[in-house]
Amino acid sequence: MAIQWFPGHMNKAKKELEERLGGIDVVIEMLDARLPGSSANPMIARLARGKPALKVLNKQDLADARVTEQWLQWYRKQPGTQALGLDASDAAPAQKLVAACRELAPGRGGVEKPLRVVICGIPNVGKSTLINSLMGRRIAKTGNEPGITKGQQRIMLADDIELFDTPGMLWPKIIVPQGGYNLAASGAVGRNALDEEEVVLELLLYLMKRYPAELDARYKIGDSDGLQDWQVLELIGKKRGAVLPGGRINIQKASEIVLTDFRDGNIGRISLELPEEWAAWEKAAKEH
Ligand code: G4P
Repeated sequence: MAIQWFPGHMNKAKKELEERLGGIDVVIEMLDARLPGSSANPMIARLARGKPALKVLNKQDLADARVTEQWLQWYRKQPGTQALGLDASDAAPAQKLVAACRELAPGRGGVEKPLRVVICGIPNVGKSTLINSLMGRRIAKTGNEPGITKGQQRIMLADDIELFDTPGMLWPKIIVPQGGYNLAASGAVGRNALDEEEVVLELLLYLMKRYPAELDARYKIGDSDGLQDWQVLELIGKKRGAVLPGGRINIQKASEIVLTDFRDGNIGRISLELPEEWAAWEKAAKEH
């Protein structure tokens, strides 16, 4: 696979998270609802083992609602785990987080022993956007490049619930090849870390398998059954005028069109992995 992603400052982030987890009652992990398995950082699960966990499937506005529901059910079956879907248009995210945290740690709360919660997640899942909305004002810079350093935050979610931001950067860990492609398609790994065409071909393969109607509705390519992924990409390029002098398709331009459309939700609400698909990929990677 052509994706190289680096665990830069990972040890520092690990140490800071370990220290932070000391007095913490509930660990919230923000995930990308389109790729919950790939956007999880396994280190968080490892360090937080035994602590009640809340999985927040964010950007649910971009994900396939039926698949998000499957993921929520999947997480809720895991011991000590709650899960909820969220997106930036939610008018009252704090209420949802508060309800789930109280359920997860019923013994905590009240002024005597406030419930302490930490929120973590890989860059680009929408952590700053959520924190800004919880604060009611802009305190952290959000931007279109993953990895903008943000300062430590503490927010009172309720009178007796303190929410802490994670200090360091928790980069995604690519443990299965498909996870790397999915992270790249979502924009969670930087542009120079991936071969854009390869990522787009993987994305198209998945769309052809699970979302052929959405693909056709967006690009008017007709029935893609029987076509190869690269042929579909060429068709899209042709339809969108991504053509070089001499008539050859500008594959780079066509790839950018598909990636931008996917990231902006223009192809529709798409999820890139089902819980059982993710579990199978993970199993295969471990056996490898
Ligand atoms: P991070 O702190 O986890 O790194 O993520 P951040 O909040 O910076 O969000 C990354 C990008 O995702 C931002 O877009 C942000 O607007 C977008 N985003 C966050 N939450 C949601 C959501 O629930 N739904 C959708 N559709 N998008 C969300 P950007 O293009 O990088 O910047 P901008 O458009 O905000 O300028």
